[in-house]
Amino acid sequence: MAAEPDGPLTVLGIETSCDETAAAVVRRHSGGAPEILAEELLSQIDEHRPYEGVVPEIAARAHLDRLDGLTGRAMAAADLGFGDLDGVAATAGPGLIGGVMVGATTGKAIAAAAGKPFLAINHLEGHALSARLTGPVAFPFLLLLVSGGHCQLLLVQGVGRYLRLGTTIDDAVGEAFDKVAKLLDLGYPGGPAVEAAAAHAQNPERFALPRPMRGRPGCDFSFSGLKTAVFHRLRAPDCQPAPDDAADMAAAFQEAVADVLVERTCNGLRMAKEREPGLRRLVVAGGVAANRRLRRALEDLCAREELDIFIPPQRYCTDNAAMIAWAGAERLALGLTSPLDFAPRPRWPLDQLDGPAESAGGATAR
Ligand code: KG4
Ligand code: ZN
Repeated sequence: MAAEPDGPLTVLGIETSCDETAAAVVRRHSGGAPEILAEELLSQIDEHRPYEGVVPEIAARAHLDRLDGLTGRAMAAADLGFGDLDGVAATAGPGLIGGVMVGATTGKAIAAAAGKPFLAINHLEGHALSARLTGPVAFPFLLLLVSGGHCQLLLVQGVGRYLRLGTTIDDAVGEAFDKVAKLLDLGYPGGPAVEAAAAHAQNPERFALPRPMRGRPGCDFSFSGLKTAVFHRLRAPDCQPAPDDAADMAAAFQEAVADVLVERTCNGLRMAKEREPGLRRLVVAGGVAANRRLRRALEDLCAREELDIFIPPQRYCTDNAAMIAWAGAERLALGLTSPLDFAPRPRWPLDQLDGPAESAGGATAR
């Protein structure tokens, strides 16, 4: 492992793993303080809206059309040329492979042309380290990652040192929000629509929904039964098509999700403390972390458990390139660069990363 660098490290980051095309330039000052120099993001929501979900081929083509221009704009906004960078980071998985290949190939090409190190970033690592981009969050911490593609609890012990404690056995939590929004005819993307509808509930307790996995050992999640319960409940004779139904059901669903996430996180905390007895930080990341009901429930949990809670601002909870550039800078500071023949991958569990050796304790504190 390389020694901590003396000077600042400036990294271009590229994110194309789903339906956001994004480029950002981030600087890691010596000592570890972050600075975001530029960030550009184009959402493809309008292209995918007619299909009520992300169409991989449309996403890949849109990334290809826009990434060059977006990267140029980010570099211009940072007032830098590629030669001024210390490294180029790109999401290399997991995600929709067409888009991942567009981003990773672009990142490699820039790195090769400018003679700079390339950093293949696991998208989940981007989310995992995003809290350190927006505030001083020391390792270790428990990470609740709640997005459209993932629902996991991880013990984060350092850069590249992740232990997955639990994951969903079926749908991701954001996916469940999106599917329930579809059932309730609330539009796409579903998470914000469900939250907005729930705010108008007349009676959030009208529909009794199950709490999947509650009381089970471990901290795995399950959401597909909850979505099916919503489906059946909406077809019950007492549920007449009326505006209140969608709002009441959205609130009932949101409550059920908050309950199971809190209960599972509590179990995850116990498991994490077996390895890190002094653990006292929870980080929540991923698009679903934008949900205010969920935030409140997790804040209450942390108050009870005497944990500090860190939730990045919403724009860094959802997909963005600053978190990829930052993960690249954190890796670069440890000398963890990637070869140019690094193969992009649709699946890439976070606990299969190359982190510094267990004894490298100095690398893990900030
Ligand atoms: O992290 P993200 O931007 O993309 C993935 O990597 O998946 O997460 C997107 C997910 C979508 O499923 C979206 O419906 C959900 O996050 N989401 C929300 C909210 N805002 C976004 N879910 C619940 N409440 C919200 N306010
Ligand atoms: Zn994501």
